[in-house]
Amino acid sequence: MCGIVGYIGKEKNIHFLVDTLKYLEYRGYDSCGVAVAKNGGVFLQKSKGKIENLKARLKEEKFSLGIAHTRWATHGVPNHLNSHPHFDCCKEIFVVHNGIIENYATLKDRLIRKGHKFISQTDTEVIPHLLEEFNKKEDIFEALIHTVEELEGSFAIVLFRKNTHKLLFAKKDSPLILGILEEGFLLTSDIPAILPFTKELINIEDKSLGVLEDNRCRIFDFNGKNRKLKKERVELHQVAISKKDYSHFMLKEIFEQPKVMERLISFYVKDEEINFKDLNLPLTKLKEISKIFIFACGTAYHAGFVGKYLLEKYVGVDVEIDVSSEARYRKIRFSSKDLVLAISQSGETADTLAAVREAKRKGAKVIAICNVLGSTLTKESEGLISTLAGPEIGVASTKAYTAQVFSLLLFSLYLARVKNIMNANSFANFLKELKNVPLYQKEILERANEIEKIANKFSRFGCFLFLGRGINYPSALEGALKLKEISYIPAEGYPAGEMKHGPIALIDEYRAVVCIAVKDELYSKMISNVQEIKARKGKVLGVVNDLNEDEARLMDEIITVPNFRITDVSPLVVAVPLQLFAYFVAKNLGCEIDQPRNLAKSVTVE
Ligand code: AGP
Repeated sequence: MCGIVGYIGKEKNIHFLVDTLKYLEYRGYDSCGVAVAKNGGVFLQKSKGKIENLKARLKEEKFSLGIAHTRWATHGVPNHLNSHPHFDCCKEIFVVHNGIIENYATLKDRLIRKGHKFISQTDTEVIPHLLEEFNKKEDIFEALIHTVEELEGSFAIVLFRKNTHKLLFAKKDSPLILGILEEGFLLTSDIPAILPFTKELINIEDKSLGVLEDNRCRIFDFNGKNRKLKKERVELHQVAISKKDYSHFMLKEIFEQPKVMERLISFYVKDEEINFKDLNLPLTKLKEISKIFIFACGTAYHAGFVGKYLLEKYVGVDVEIDVSSEARYRKIRFSSKDLVLAISQSGETADTLAAVREAKRKGAKVIAICNVLGSTLTKESEGLISTLAGPEIGVASTKAYTAQVFSLLLFSLYLARVKNIMNANSFANFLKELKNVPLYQKEILERANEIEKIANKFSRFGCFLFLGRGINYPSALEGALKLKEISYIPAEGYPAGEMKHGPIALIDEYRAVVCIAVKDELYSKMISNVQEIKARKGKVLGVVNDLNEDEARLMDEIITVPNFRITDVSPLVVAVPLQLFAYFVAKNLGCEIDQPRNLAKSVTVE
């Protein structure tokens, strides 16, 4: 993963590099570092942890050539030595890298035999040493061509050599964007990091190398052949991102959900019909669809899981869902009547991109359900459903999740209409209920204080089970994921009916069990499962609506959600108390909520 920055141009303060790096912190925050050319030497500073730590160590320093890096550790623990920039034996070549060098062990052995000294455990460190090796006979650009020939895996690399006023780069399967500034050139891992400084940019093509000098930019293919510079003007607005009065981005984003749902309705529902303009598939093709594959990771996978229930029920198609990292390696055969839905908040998740590329190679049509316009996924898919959640900063996904579920609901209803499966009355009825969702969510948000009190009581438990059935089985998975990723408490999501096949062995008075028991066709079965937990003294927190007194007595605590007219909207609503519950448990335990340990907002390595 990791985020990289490089600058060459008119003199600036070193804080410019670090402030640009801050836009990339969502890619990793285990450690960071900066190197700038200075008076014939190089000034290097690294720091463990967040970019703020690095910033605090830097004085006002002028520079005109430099690189910076924020790391999500793959090879080697997050410490000073493993932080980027990495350098060669003579400390002359400085490199930042995003990606993974898969053959680094072989290269490292070879270089050590040639006398190179390594100081880190990273895969990246082979790059400056290879450059050093080739640079003995060739200039640094030729050395880069030969270095790249040796590398297997994915990489976006930015580097400079002491006493050579040039910034060089290479890219394969990891993103790299070049911003054209009035005063120079800025390389970064994504577009939003460039937009504050310029709208003119070049999205570096895959398998490219480049050399930047003060007023000159040259880009080549891996054989050293010139590439045409394809400049673009990006008109995306840089949205002011702040926590406002909320203590964390996660809380702010939880509270934004009703607005996001309203936005989706007003964007996709016109004159009481649902319309998707960017599917890029003719109606005849849509009518033919008989099987849908859903690929996604983490929270997006849970949203896709809800989508599976909806598409099967309302569209009558077969749906297979896989986490992208598995889908990619399955021997799936796609027919011309199949459709792939790839779901991703960031649109940069390496596993999902790889699964999509594999499906496309086999002839499948892909629609992205994505939150970031202009991301790699939106560019590589035939069609797009934009989830319109706005920037999501908290690493734990909240509003992006409900936006994905809502989009899938709209898409299911749309397909049901296209295929003539749902009659006008049921459709109108469903649309009416969809419009109630923001109200249902607001109703819960107004009771956030109650949920905080319950969360405080439950935060002493060292282990949680989350149970749900049917369309709320994925809600249980998502509830457990939210809790574990921000509070570090072990939490498992399970289909309640499966509990007796193993997990029930965990139940005693020290286990907390969150039971999603909203009134639907499986309600009575869910209540039986709650009985089984109580018989074994488990502590039950029910997420419920409309339960009678006997049922209420079964639960140790309850969070009430509204009564739904159509229970298939319930995942959109029960998500809210589960997110708040996880948030308040983590807060009570003093955890770092917006940037939990070991995670990153965008997972750009396999
Ligand atoms: C969610 O809270 C996670 N941090 C994570 O599971 C995330 O949903 C996953 O990495 C997929 O990301 P994407 O939606 O950007 O593809």
